Amino acid sequence: MNSLRSSLLVTLVFAFLPAFAQFQQTPLPYAYNALEPYIDAQTMDIHYNKHAAAYASNLNKAIKGTPAENLTLTQMFATISKLDPAIRNNGGGHFNHELFWTILSPEPGEISPALLAAINSTFGAVDSLKKKLNEAGAKRFGSGWAWLSVTSEGKLVVSSTPNQDNPLMDVVDVKGIPILGIDVWEHAYYLKYQNKRGDYLGAIWKVMNWKEVSRRYEEAIR
Ligand SMILES: [Fe+2]
Repeated sequence: MNSLRSSLLVTLVFAFLPAFAQFQQTPLPYAYNALEPYIDAQTMDIHYNKHAAAYASNLNKAIKGTPAENLTLTQMFATISKLDPAIRNNGGGHFNHELFWTILSPEPGEISPALLAAINSTFGAVDSLKKKLNEAGAKRFGSGWAWLSVTSEGKLVVSSTPNQDNPLMDVVDVKGIPILGIDVWEHAYYLKYQNKRGDYLGAIWKVMNWKEVSRRYEEAIR
C-alpha cells in the first residue's frame, strides 16, 4: 500500500510541476530528402536535429528562472535589447528556424492574388523581389538572414539581419512581421554548395512554399 501511495504521490507531483520545456521544435513538415536536389538530406538532418535543436534547448536554459520565462517569443523580441544575449541568440535561432522550415516545401504552390498584387506594386515583379532578397542574403557578411516582412503600415519590405536577429526585435533597423526568411548561415548550405552562397540562394526558389508565405502575409495584414 505504501509503495502504491508513494507512486501516486510521485505522479501527482510531476503532474503539477510547471511544464518547463516550453519551447520545442515542431516536427519537420516533410522528409529530410524532400527538398533534394536543391537542399540535400544530410544538410536538412543536421540543420534540424543539431543546429535548430540546440537553439530550442539553449533558449529554455537561458530563460529558466528569469522573468522571460513567462513571455512569448514575440514579447521577448520587443524588448530583446534589455534581455540576456543568450535569449537574443537562441530565441532568434528558435523562431527563425521554425519559420524557415514552413516556408520551404517540395510542393511550392501558388502566390495568393493579394500577395502577388502587393509584390507587384512594391517591387515591380516576383523576379525583382527574388533578386532583392538574394542580394540581401549575398551581401550579409558572415552569418544571418534575408527577410521579407510586413511593416506596421502593411507594406512589404526586404531586409537582412546578422546572426539570429529578426525583424521583430527592437534592435534591428527594419522592423516588421517576417513572412519569408532565408537562412544564409553556412550550416544551411555548405555541405552541398560550399562557398557558393549565390547558388544556394538561386536554388531555394525551387522549393519556396508560396502557399505558406501567402498565408503569413494575409495573417500579417489582418
Ligand atoms: Fe540555420
